[in-house]
Amino acid sequence: MSGNITFTMIKPDAVADGHIGAILGKISEAGFKVKALKLTQLTNEDAKKFYEVHAERPFYGELVEFMSSGPIVAAVLEKDNAVNDFRTLIGATNPADAAEGTIRKMFARSVGENAVHGSDSDENALIEAQFHFSGREIF
Ligand code: RTP
Ligand code: MG
Repeated sequence: MSGNITFTMIKPDAVADGHIGAILGKISEAGFKVKALKLTQLTNEDAKKFYEVHAERPFYGELVEFMSSGPIVAAVLEKDNAVNDFRTLIGATNPADAAEGTIRKMFARSVGENAVHGSDSDENALIEAQFHFSGREIF
């Protein structure tokens, strides 16, 4: 499991807005294979740890609070060039800047509540997958 995997979360806004099925459909249509999948909720500690890289950013507190505010869908996805292709599929961080047809353009509420997470490197994809899933939950 390396190079061709990425990790995603359908964030609390998109779960609350009823977009799980539509987002998983877009992911599947784009050619990603689901390697692991679950509905779960991050604790405050989990969210702090997951987004630790942003600890000094002004939005960190808000981000941690939001990401632990309700259920999320966590998934590991496989495809050639998974990290980059998935970030293209989800679009820019701010949905106002996201291209037409991208998941964030279609489903995000705002820059903070932006529907989905996508890993930013192969190395982080592996770390994030292992943060959320045990070996026997990844197929
Ligand atoms: P993500 O990690 O969730 O896939 O998002 P990203 O790479 O596109 O953006 P990143 O810079 O890693 O930021 C992580 C998340 O922090 C929230 N954020 N809020 N209020 C703001 O200005 C702001 N900027 C970033 C977003 O939820 C973003 O996805
Ligand atoms: Mg990021």
